[in-house]
Amino acid sequence: MITFPFSLSGKKILVTGASSGIGQSTAIECSRMGAKLIISARSEVRLNETFSQLTGDGHQIVVADLSRQEGIDAVMNAIDKVDGIVLCAGKGLTLPYQFATREKFDDIFNINFFSPVELLRLLYKKKKINTAGSVVVIASLGGTKIFSGGNSIYGASKAALNCIMKFCAKEFSSRKIRVNCICPGMVETPLIHRGTVSDEQLKENEKLYPLGRYGKPEEIAYSAVYLLSDATTWMTGQDIILDGGISIR
Ligand SMILES: NC(=O)c1ccc[n+]([C@@H]2O[C@H](COP(=O)([O-])OP(=O)(O)OC[C@H]3O[C@@H](n4cnc5c(N)ncnc54)[C@H](OP(=O)(O)O)[C@@H]3O)[C@@H](O)[C@H]2O)c1
Repeated sequence: MITFPFSLSGKKILVTGASSGIGQSTAIECSRMGAKLIISARSEVRLNETFSQLTGDGHQIVVADLSRQEGIDAVMNAIDKVDGIVLCAGKGLTLPYQFATREKFDDIFNINFFSPVELLRLLYKKKKINTAGSVVVIASLGGTKIFSGGNSIYGASKAALNCIMKFCAKEFSSRKIRVNCICPGMVETPLIHRGTVSDEQLKENEKLYPLGRYGKPEEIAYSAVYLLSDATTWMTGQDIILDGGISIR
């Protein structure tokens, strides 16, 4: 029996996209549960804000643009071994399909799909993930259940991520490394205010959620902590849908 199955004490965890929103919250909550963090994103200023909110010491910042090979190399070079990885860096796009050019696909797939996939491939290949480690991928409800207009490129990038992670889960099981996805519905972060959807439209959409509101970043972070912890040592290749009930509406 594990004495404190939900604790992250003694675990080293990499969180990408840790300068904002879900990744920031995840880093903070992981540190509160005892983990040592390696936090990464492009903005050093915002990473420092996250860093200042981490509990405990021994944490590390890696400034890196993961859409570029140099950024992936920087993260690889900063890591010796990790017990957990949260692949969270990503961006949104709302665009009618008739405007979905190859360029737009390349841009979104580069950061939402190819970057996490390549980073994970290298970490695994170079044996930088400890035996019995846990990988958490922040995918999206938009790649699995809700196919709202204008989200085709974004949804496809997340669906691809969702799919390949099941293959990783199978292959990595030989080293007892687990790979699971979290698929959130709309979460109140800067991402949802950056696009072409107005605040009025967001307010209307929020009313459709059975639990009455969009999610909070920490509500995603708590599930990431769960997946990173020893409470889920028998769980791999799965999707956790966190969506305030919108998919059963
Ligand atoms: N909010 C939602 O409703 C929602 C729903 C489902 C899934 N998600 C997913 O959750 C993840 C986090 O989103 P969020 O809502 O927390 O958005 P956010 O607040 O905009 O955070 C996005 C994070 O990704 C990082 N990032 C973006 N491009 C990067 C790049 N090229 N290299 C390195 N880091 C990069 C950003 O850091 P820098 O700008 O400092 O680089 C930031 O830390 C995304 O993968 C998103 O698709 C969000």
